[in-house]
Amino acid sequence: MAYSAKIGPSILSSDLSCLGSECVRMMECGSDYLHLDVMDGHFVPNITFGHPMVECLRKSVGQEPFFDMHMMVSRPEQWVKPMAAAGANQYTFHLEATTNPGNLIKEIKESGMKVGLAIKPGTTVEELAPWANQIDMALVMTVEPGFGGQKFMEDMMPKVSWLRSQFPSLDIEVDGGVGPDTIHKCAEAGANMIVSGSAVIGSDDPRSVIALLRTVVAEAIQKRSLDR
Ligand code: DX5
Ligand code: ZN
Repeated sequence: MAYSAKIGPSILSSDLSCLGSECVRMMECGSDYLHLDVMDGHFVPNITFGHPMVECLRKSVGQEPFFDMHMMVSRPEQWVKPMAAAGANQYTFHLEATTNPGNLIKEIKESGMKVGLAIKPGTTVEELAPWANQIDMALVMTVEPGFGGQKFMEDMMPKVSWLRSQFPSLDIEVDGGVGPDTIHKCAEAGANMIVSGSAVIGSDDPRSVIALLRTVVAEAIQKRSLDR
C-alpha cells in the first residue's frame, strides 16, 4: 500500500497571534503535517495570510514540519514561486480557480513543491480525474471553503470512494468538519490525509484526538489491503 494515514491540523482555528507556537504545539502533539489555509477574500469570502507569514513560520518552526498550503485564492499561478521561496512543501490549488491546471501543475513541480488539487463541494470528481495521475494529492472539500467550524458534508464521501477505487495509491485528503465524530466515514471511503481544525485545536487533549484520527484511518487502510 503506497499511502499511509497522515493527520494535518488546520491552524485556522488556533490563536493566530501565536501561530508559531501553535504550529510547534501541534507537531509536538503528533501531527504528521500542517495544513495552512490561505484565503484571499476573492475566491472565498475571508482573508487569512500569505507567503510573508509562511516565511516567518518556516523560520520559527524549522525545516521539519511539512507545510501543505491550501490555496483558496483566485489566480493561484501568481503565488507559486513566492510560496516555494517561503518554505512551502506542497501547493494545493483549487481546480475552480484556474483555466490551465496542466500548466500550473508543471510550474509547481518545477518550483520543487508537491502538487495538491482541491475541489469544492459543487465540483464533480470526474473534473479532477484527468489530472489525478499528475498530482501528489487530491483534496475533496467536505465543507464550502472559507471558514473553520462548519458541518461535515457526508454526501462528499462518494467522491472519495470513487477516487480511491480509480487511483489506489493516490494521497486523498478531506478538509472541513472532520473530527472524531466523522472520521469513520472518511476512513471507510478511502481518505488517508486528514485535515482537522476545530476538533483538534479546540480540544483539551489534541494529542489524543490526533492519535484517534490516525488509528481509525490506519485500520481502514489495513482492512482495505487485506480485502484486495
Ligand atoms: C475551510 C478550511 C479548513 C478549515 C477546517 O475553508 O479549508 O481547513 O480550517 O476547519 P474545521 O476542521 O474546523 O472544519
Ligand atoms: Zn483547508
